[in-house]
Amino acid sequence: MKPRHFISLLDLSGDELRQLINRAITLKHIRDHDYQPLKGQVLGMIFEKSSTRTRVSFETGMAHFGGHAVFLSPRDTQLGRGEPISDSAKVISRMVDCVMLRTHEHETVTKFAENSRVPVINGLTDKEHPCQLLADMQTYFEHRGDIAGKTVAWIGDGNNMCHSYIHAAMILGFTLNIASPVGYLPNSDIVALAASHVHFFDNSISAAKGADLVVTDVWASMGQETEQKLREVAFKDYQVTAQVMAAAKPDALFMHCLPAHRGEEVSAEVIDGSHSVVFDEAENRLHAQKALLELLLCGNAKISLLND
Ligand code: CP
Ligand code: NVA
Repeated sequence: MKPRHFISLLDLSGDELRQLINRAITLKHIRDHDYQPLKGQVLGMIFEKSSTRTRVSFETGMAHFGGHAVFLSPRDTQLGRGEPISDSAKVISRMVDCVMLRTHEHETVTKFAENSRVPVINGLTDKEHPCQLLADMQTYFEHRGDIAGKTVAWIGDGNNMCHSYIHAAMILGFTLNIASPVGYLPNSDIVALAASHVHFFDNSISAAKGADLVVTDVWASMGQETEQKLREVAFKDYQVTAQVMAAAKPDALFMHCLPAHRGEEVSAEVIDGSHSVVFDEAENRLHAQKALLELLLCGNAKISLLND
């Protein structure tokens, strides 16, 4: 039987995502380290790019569940010396029980999955960051309840995070208002799929108007470091400031996947202020991904049993 992968948020239905969020909230509260459904199992973690949250949350989640995580860097494995990704996938997936990859090209993850005997998780690519959306949506549900019918404002780069927000809008049924500078809009194919869930605005305040949640991300993502100066100019009017938050609903939340650059995409006043839930959001990477590992490695049936 083919393994179930998590490469895109669209790999889950709305019902499955809601169930996973509920399960993550339960796991957060029970904190039962005697519950070890992945005892003896191993997660391989391949990082082509840096990470704090993704690495620590997956490694800790596996330890909580009685399993183990192996960190693999292209710098000191054959992955960085040209071994074909298909061969690497065939070899690694004969030894471990699940593989998480953070890569530049999205196709590296899809190709790995095509050749893997075990579930593959996208830990961020240039195109999508679905694990972050599990945590963001858990955080919204915890603070405000279901996000269906709500309005989310995305301010800034039409990047991997923005793409995963578009997917979340589609499957959970919210409206996504996007304000991005010309030349930095999200991928048109992804936007086309989302149809009426996505609306574009030419400035941050209009996009944030009446929003329940305001979200941003760095102006230059990993791999775009040489564009930093150019992007500082292009994005100068796209900082989430107190003025932008004032256009949103009075109880609007502010999220950022982190790491953040205060004074660039967000003012210190906003990220360190009363609307911000960025540290709940970061913590929820752990709980949401534990629920994801359970889903992929133990299956739906076991999860619904545990939720009863
Ligand atoms: N948000 C996020 O993915 O953080 P890391 O890059 O630290 O993993
Ligand atoms: N868009 C950012 C997200 C970091 C978690 C990047 O890709 O670098």
